[in-house]
Amino acid sequence: MTIEIKDINKSFKTHEKKITALSNINLSVNTGDFVCILGPSGCGKTTLLRLVGGLEKADSGEIFVDDQLITGPSRERGFIFQQYSLFPWLNVLDNVLFGLEINGHPKEENISRARQYLKAVGLEDAENLYPNELSGGMKQRVAIVRSLVNKSKTLLMDEPFSALDMQNRHKLQDELIRVWKKTNNTILFVTHDVDEAIFLADHIILMGKNPGHIKEFYNNQLPRPRKRESEEFINIQEKIIAILDNID
Ligand SMILES: Nc1ncnc2c1ncn2[C@@H]1O[C@H](COP(=O)(O)OP(=O)(O)O)[C@@H](O)[C@H]1O
Ligand SMILES: [Mg+2]
Repeated sequence: MTIEIKDINKSFKTHEKKITALSNINLSVNTGDFVCILGPSGCGKTTLLRLVGGLEKADSGEIFVDDQLITGPSRERGFIFQQYSLFPWLNVLDNVLFGLEINGHPKEENISRARQYLKAVGLEDAENLYPNELSGGMKQRVAIVRSLVNKSKTLLMDEPFSALDMQNRHKLQDELIRVWKKTNNTILFVTHDVDEAIFLADHIILMGKNPGHIKEFYNNQLPRPRKRESEEFINIQEKIIAILDNID
């Protein structure tokens, strides 16, 4: 899906003041792009993602998905949050199938799709486990599989791996790339981790704060598979850190 963000401004009013969360945001995303939104805490990353998800309304500006103006949330845009959003009383398979059964989709087809994706992320033996029996990394895999089985063509991911230890974070980054290549989904991935953005994305949106704005678009052409130890990787890292640290 293509995403077209045009002249977005967004503020929040609290009892004492008005906070400008996003100022004059413009961004184009093509079908199948992997885009990272990178910036410090408070620069409006979550707000931007929620606007694209249709969970928040802008003060001004418009967002189009496949040339359609966004007016609310849609199954086509699946959200994956940092906090694992699984139902504790459902096992893995039922968590994955949850939204589908109430909408009357044929069950067998969904079950086989679910099993296929669970296998792709290494959870083929976990379908009967309950969330309290899963590690953080396993829970995020289930959340990703749920979006895929729901046929979300765009994944909106808000720091989904930031609560994981490094080893699991790296493993899930690898798996996400594998799934993305297979599905050709459009991915908008929010992170404050420079390393994560360089490893994952082809397009990195560098944001600054007060008010939240886009500082620069970085086109990341590092060939895959990417190696964090490589000289090219480290050079990009330095470049991006310099841009982020630069005072506005
Ligand atoms: N519901 C809200 N009410 C008031 N202020 C908010 C709300 N959501 C976000 N903000 C403010 O908007 C700014 C951007 O927040 P956020 O999008 O969460 O940033 P990030 O995800 O980059 O950390 C912050 O100053 C935050 O305090
Ligand atoms: Mg956030």
